[in-house]
Amino acid sequence: MTTHTAFPSTFVWGAAASAYQTEGAVYADGRGESIWDRFCTEPGRIKDGANGGVACDFYGRYREDIDLMRSLGLDAFRFSVAWPRVIPDGRGPVNSAGLDFYDRLVDDLLAAGITPYVNLFHWDLPQPLQDAGGWPLRATAELFAQYAATVGARLGDRVRHWITHNEPACASWLGYGTGVHAPGHRSVDEALAAAHHLLLSHGLAVGELRRCSPHAEIGIVVDSWPAYPWTDSPEDRAAVRLADGMTNRWFFDALFRGEYPADMLEHFGDAVPAIEVGDLGVISTPLDFVGANNYSRHFVRANPSGGAPLDVRAPGGELTAMGWEVYPAGIREVLTRLHRDYGIDQLYVAENGAAFADVRTHDGAIHDFDRIGYLDAYLTEVAAAMADGVPVRGYFVWSLLDNFEWAEGYSKRFGLVFVDYPTLERIPKDSFYWYRDLIAQARGVTLAA
Ligand code: FCB
Repeated sequence: MTTHTAFPSTFVWGAAASAYQTEGAVYADGRGESIWDRFCTEPGRIKDGANGGVACDFYGRYREDIDLMRSLGLDAFRFSVAWPRVIPDGRGPVNSAGLDFYDRLVDDLLAAGITPYVNLFHWDLPQPLQDAGGWPLRATAELFAQYAATVGARLGDRVRHWITHNEPACASWLGYGTGVHAPGHRSVDEALAAAHHLLLSHGLAVGELRRCSPHAEIGIVVDSWPAYPWTDSPEDRAAVRLADGMTNRWFFDALFRGEYPADMLEHFGDAVPAIEVGDLGVISTPLDFVGANNYSRHFVRANPSGGAPLDVRAPGGELTAMGWEVYPAGIREVLTRLHRDYGIDQLYVAENGAAFADVRTHDGAIHDFDRIGYLDAYLTEVAAAMADGVPVRGYFVWSLLDNFEWAEGYSKRFGLVFVDYPTLERIPKDSFYWYRDLIAQARGVTLAA
């Protein structure tokens, strides 16, 4: 079991969520359409034809959810602001009712003693901006900076932790490269252009946030799954380098070294978008912290037809309901890499968690021992990284509530709290109580029996 003594008393215990996955209320109070609203209307895109129209109704029930967070003993809650709620067309008039929601949310979190970690983009681009070209268009980066300034001006007096983007690699590659996420395009050129403009928008937003929220810490959240070769063949080892280059190094080298990796520039050749002088300087603007999301690892093998490396199933081992291998050592690897290779000296685990086929048993409870086992094993590896000197400041479990899991709809449950979708009732799972006890013990609090 995780040794709670491995975590200092200053360690930040959190949970993470995102707007489109939890808020619902997509037509409420002047919110505009996002690319996910649109994507969900396209046949075959989402399992069971689901959409985020209601989701967990966090928009209407966030106070109840803050009560849950309080009983969990959370130090921090990471959520995202929906750009289309704040600026419905992505540019132009601000919807003050949308901003009011986040204003209340921040105030209520603070009143509950929970620190908000506010993420400006978790994939829900305003649809009008996609209609104009989306992230492959440079202008979208400038508009994101204006949006960041708008949110910063309203919340910057109280928010002390800002995150510009969540997983720019996923937003680029899944949205514009493989098309499994909104807006569902399949083009390497678009994915690379999207990646460059997401990164550029990050750097521009950091500048805006520093201006409107001078006392805050500002960071970004990157995803990282370590890549392993399927066999020891030179081809598969080259495929690993390529896969790592596409999803990890392309982003990390730009953000933390101010350059794109030379081998990948060569690999992508003409598909590399126009990079203006100064862009990489903006992208690599110094940050206060970096959040890493890790769930699993990839096994890759060379693509016989010469295309992108192929992802293959782990040869053995336990899989979560997502089909993702349970590989706790990977989180230590990712954290260590970001610290050692990229010199990051303030790290958070910004997401980690697992979907399993939870069932409500006759006693009305959800005995999710597999999730507890997963979280315990991953936290043990986080502690091991810290014992090695890797500066991990906190951990955010994904997620507080079961929610809309993108292309998987509601079929995959990641929450510490079960959501009964027909009634929206919240039922804490056993993992909720486990996490509550871990947090309390790490703080040295003795719990009443
Ligand atoms: C991450 C996303 C998050 C959630 C988890 C399971 O890649 O950031 O929204 O879907 O995966």
